[in-house]
Amino acid sequence: MGESFVIAVDFGTAYSGYTFNTSTREKENDPILKRWGAGEGLDTPKTPTCILFNEKREFLKFGYEAKKAYLKMRGEEAKKHYFFEGFKMDLYNKDFNKDLKIKAKNGEEMTALKVFSESLRFLKDDALKTISANNAGSPFTASNFTWVLTVPAICDESAKRFMKEAAIQAEIITEGYNKLIFALEPEAASVWCKKLPADGFITQNHIAKSLDQTPGTQYLIVDCGGGTIDITVHKVVEGGALEELQKASGNDLRGRTVDRKFKKFLREIFSDGVWDEYELKYPNEVQRMMYEFTRLKQVDENVEIQCPDSLGELAEQKKDIEKFFESVEGALWDEGYIVISREKLKTFFDKILQGISQSIREILNKNLNIDFILTVGGLAESQIVRELINEEFSEEYKILCPARPQEAILRGAVLYPCGENVERFDESKHKQEK
Ligand SMILES: Nc1ncnc2c1ncn2[C@@H]1O[C@H](COP(=O)(O)OP(=O)(O)OP(=O)(O)O)[C@@H](O)[C@H]1O
Ligand SMILES: [Mg+2]
Repeated sequence: MGESFVIAVDFGTAYSGYTFNTSTREKENDPILKRWGAGEGLDTPKTPTCILFNEKREFLKFGYEAKKAYLKMRGEEAKKHYFFEGFKMDLYNKDFNKDLKIKAKNGEEMTALKVFSESLRFLKDDALKTISANNAGSPFTASNFTWVLTVPAICDESAKRFMKEAAIQAEIITEGYNKLIFALEPEAASVWCKKLPADGFITQNHIAKSLDQTPGTQYLIVDCGGGTIDITVHKVVEGGALEELQKASGNDLRGRTVDRKFKKFLREIFSDGVWDEYELKYPNEVQRMMYEFTRLKQVDENVEIQCPDSLGELAEQKKDIEKFFESVEGALWDEGYIVISREKLKTFFDKILQGISQSIREILNKNLNIDFILTVGGLAESQIVRELINEEFSEEYKILCPARPQEAILRGAVLYPCGENVERFDESKHKQEK
């Protein structure tokens, strides 16, 4: 029965999370996806990939909690602590080894291995706690599970070795117990989408269809994440398995640019140093506005964000708050709300939209026989992004996006051990290469 016990971890550039399956033959349950952010009034399928250590380099917190705790710290206190954010990005194009160091916010270094392994350890402990609570408190250990770690399609052997070492340090795998599977992110997404009925997809301007699994079908998977836009071409072969034909990754197209542009616009509105003062005095409130923006930017319409009291007060000390809006285009003040026009919101996406369509075009220009385009990842939650892909490509291609595209990789990864497209870590090969 242990075979059906699975925990899958998606360790992303921007957000991380896990899904688990503890169904036995007697009790068939759907896999569960852990939700995050209750402490911030949120409910999200992943938590920010950031981690906080104390001055002795001991682990303190991960995710939303780490961010909140770090933002509360002032001057000297913040300098003593080690805070890491977006650190997966630091590893691109680097040679993975045990001594590789990465820089914390305070400018001090720590080994990448420790930052990764402590992150994995947190996710492991949290998963075991959640599972135990879901199963009438019965205790579970890491060795009760098959573990799935998702990795980008472009991930090479040295990166996998590094992740495996981190998993050992995190005690996910131990001596004599090694049930670790690497799942390629686009494959995991495919596994999930394959299972979806026609109404499991968000439809825009075409008839809903489930994923075509006829052998020979070729499709493009576009994973629009927080750090990279990854594009993979899959071909369905006899028996329903998949063959990977192409892969590409554009790692300069950060989803974060959208958020950055939003913040820049707020600074433009709250001129005269008001925004800077607000950021300095109330960093956690700014963070809350950013979370709110993440939720609001899904739509393609005017966005209304409640103006926090302290921001309003700082502004009023200079002049009437309405006056701040007179000199900017694309925003207005409406009784306590900052209203950003739909057109302005769209401009925040300009750069990444260009990047996404250019990356897709590059692959399509290779004249592969593509039947449809499948979009997944957090940015695909955004209607503006989905519309662009539709506008540009729907004349020639069918476009599919699963409902809740940010969850696709996690939901597919937990099904991975039962599928055929499994790349198991080969221990003997690992030893040889060392
Ligand atoms: N509801 C939403 N609407 C719009 N954008 C969203 C939403 N939720 C998350 N995002 C954006 O999606 C991005 C994160 O996506 P995702 O979780 O797929 O990234 P990741 O897996 O961490 O990154 P990568 O795959 O590049 O390593 C962030 O830029 C975030 O702002
Ligand atoms: Mg991802």
